[in-house]
Amino acid sequence: MTAMSTASSPTFGLQDYVRTIDAVLRRRPANPVIIREVSLATKQLCADDRWLEERHRVGSQDCYTRHLLHRDPENRFVVLALVWMPGQMTAIHDHSCWGVMGILQNSLEEVCYDRLDDGKRPDFAELEQSRGTDVGRGSVAYLLPPYEEIHRIGNTSNKPTISLHVYGRDLDAVNVFDQVTGKVTQMRIKYYSPECGKAPFVI
Ligand SMILES: [Fe+2]
Repeated sequence: MTAMSTASSPTFGLQDYVRTIDAVLRRRPANPVIIREVSLATKQLCADDRWLEERHRVGSQDCYTRHLLHRDPENRFVVLALVWMPGQMTAIHDHSCWGVMGILQNSLEEVCYDRLDDGKRPDFAELEQSRGTDVGRGSVAYLLPPYEEIHRIGNTSNKPTISLHVYGRDLDAVNVFDQVTGKVTQMRIKYYSPECGKAPFVI
C-alpha cells in the first residue's frame, strides 16, 4: 500500500519550477507580482523535496554551502539550494534584486533591517533591525528592493537545514553591512557547484 506512494515521483519538481518562473518573467510583471507568483511556486516545490539530488544536500562544517541548481540562460534568475549546519549564518547583506526563499528541511531564522540613511554613500549605511522571523517548511520569505532586501539568515537550531533560493539576477556580488561601524563592503560570490568545484565563497 505504501510502496506505491514512496515509488511515485514528486508532482512538481525543479524543471516545473524553472518553467513556471520562466513563464512569469516572460510577462515582464512588476516585482511585487513576481514575488507573489514565485512564492506560490516555491511553496509547491518545497512541499515535496524528493526531487533534490543527494549531491545538493551536502553541507560543510566550515561554512554554509551554496549549490547552484539552475542558472537561467537569459540571466534573469538563479536557483540555489543552501545547506546550513547548526549555528551557521550569513553576515548582514543585500541582493539588489527580487528574491524568494523556501525551506526544504528544518528551519531558518531571518532577521531583517531597515536602512535609515539616504543610501547616497556606497560605503556607508545606518541600519536598524526591523523584525526577526523563523521560516519553516511551508512558509517563504522574500526580498523586494529597495526597502525590503537587507537581512541576515542563519540556522539557530541543532539540526541541519536545507533552503531553496531564487534570485532575480545572477548573483556575482552583494553588499555586506557592518551594523556597528556602518561600513558597506562589496563581496564577490562563488558557488559550490560542478562547474566551479569547491571554490571558496564569501557569502
Ligand atoms: Fe540573502
